[in-house]
Amino acid sequence: MSLTEEIKKRRTFAIIAHPDAGKTTLTEKLLLFGGAIQTAGAVKSNKIDTATKSDWMEIEKQRGISVATSVMGFEYKDVKINLLDTPGHQDFAEDTYRTLTAVDSVIMVIDCVKGVEIQTEKLMEVCRMRNTPVICFINKLDREGRDPYDLLDEVEEKLNIKVRPLSWPIGMGKGFKGVYNLYEKKLNLFTPSQRKLSDDRQVFENLDDPQLDALIGPGNATQLREDVDLIEGVYPDFDVKDYLEGKIAPVFFGSAVNNFGVNEMLDTFIKIAPSPKSRETDVREVKPDEPKFSGFVFKIHANMDPNHRNRIAFLRICSGKFERNKPYNHVRGPKPLRFSNVTQFMAQDKEIIDEAFPGDIVGLYDTGNLKIGDTLTEGENMVFTGIPSFSPEIFREVVNKDAMKTKQLEKGLKQLMEEGVAQLFTFEMGQRKVVGTVGQLQFEVIQFRLKNEYNATVEFHPMNLYKACWISCKDKKQLDEFVRSKNRYIARDKDDKLVFMAESKSWLQMVQDNYPEIEFHFTSEF
Ligand code: G4P
Repeated sequence: MSLTEEIKKRRTFAIIAHPDAGKTTLTEKLLLFGGAIQTAGAVKSNKIDTATKSDWMEIEKQRGISVATSVMGFEYKDVKINLLDTPGHQDFAEDTYRTLTAVDSVIMVIDCVKGVEIQTEKLMEVCRMRNTPVICFINKLDREGRDPYDLLDEVEEKLNIKVRPLSWPIGMGKGFKGVYNLYEKKLNLFTPSQRKLSDDRQVFENLDDPQLDALIGPGNATQLREDVDLIEGVYPDFDVKDYLEGKIAPVFFGSAVNNFGVNEMLDTFIKIAPSPKSRETDVREVKPDEPKFSGFVFKIHANMDPNHRNRIAFLRICSGKFERNKPYNHVRGPKPLRFSNVTQFMAQDKEIIDEAFPGDIVGLYDTGNLKIGDTLTEGENMVFTGIPSFSPEIFREVVNKDAMKTKQLEKGLKQLMEEGVAQLFTFEMGQRKVVGTVGQLQFEVIQFRLKNEYNATVEFHPMNLYKACWISCKDKKQLDEFVRSKNRYIARDKDDKLVFMAESKSWLQMVQDNYPEIEFHFTSEF
């Protein structure tokens, strides 16, 4: 197969959702359709199964929270699908944000009872930064949820994106009869606890067909006709181009646990979702069909075995063909790197592979050379952009409780930060070290791993900080002056970039007003 054909057949995406909306359940159903797993139903046992296969760290086993972002590859109707899983727990949101830099599109799951929740809003903001195409799946239609029109309005309002329903529910909760596929004009009737993968849909080109009344009852039939008229009247025709530019989100309704409405969505997904796209670097745009290989690391995961410091770096291939054992230019590093142990993730199994193509994610065994954001190329010196750090929300000062283990602590902190577990800021004054995270749980993870893997003991002391803002100014003199006058609040991030540590929102606003020439950024890339 030619490189272009390989690229065309790939779809790399992630499912994002507020916890409990049904991401795990939907993932399982997609794997079922892809033939990657065999048993339907029993979500719980499959969930545990998925967890044990992707949980590589001791801590995950203890907590039963999947910290890992694993990759599930499978084939469906001749399309190679790479599904990147994201941690369900919101304390690991930063991990999810980074995963979103490695996908070409996302499916967003929304619970029809709860509507748009806070985590969904945050994730959508990240998608918007990169104009990532979004398909929306409104889930749990077997429950009495909110009115579908209200849900669509809420998605538009809260997520700030136009929507276009491509399927429409007939009833809801106990009265849920099925979904009508507006795109293909097919009716899909609901059988509760549907455990098989059925494709026996009844096609209705003409909704006036009296058979419809017989099938779903006259009341539902009339309602559906009215709804379809209204939707076709209110919403403009679905334009794939608008979706691909991230301007409009097609919406599907269904019930993941009942395996309902899922294959409507999957079939449309493989038709409209983008194959691997071009990506920006600091020097030029890289097209996927360029013959020379390039890619970037978006995640690093510590190996489960504490006796070995091996880590797995997840590399997204952006162009050309990646080959095992070939030396590649590690743009940030001093020497070329060659990987003999290259893993690809097919369904829930890992397998050693010899080559991979744009859109694919491979796992590289690494002994500490790679860090998040690193670019590998076949020679060219360029760095993929768009893998920023976001300002953390919780800050704690690192206090070393065992002075004999200072070196171990430094090393451990450095490595954990390279893995992206949290962000480290070092104050210019007094060299105090502050760890910033988006959730409480990471502090426990860090404390546990420092002890377990590096034999270092730390405590975290609360700090009254609101945000870390990366600062810049066109005039170097003014920046130096600002840094001098505010030096108690100036720190450096892992890349030695200047950061202003703001104590409160109002105070930050005041400083911003007083220093209009200084730019304050909430992500590390600007
Ligand atoms: P998450 O990964 O987004 O956190 O959500 P997950 O799939 O784990 O689903 C959260 C809960 O919602 C699960 O119930 C799951 O069974 C349920 N669920 C998923 N899809 C549907 C649906 O279409 N309809 C209904 N009614 N429920 C759905 P749980 O009680 O937490 O676990 P379990 O005991 O059912 O496995």
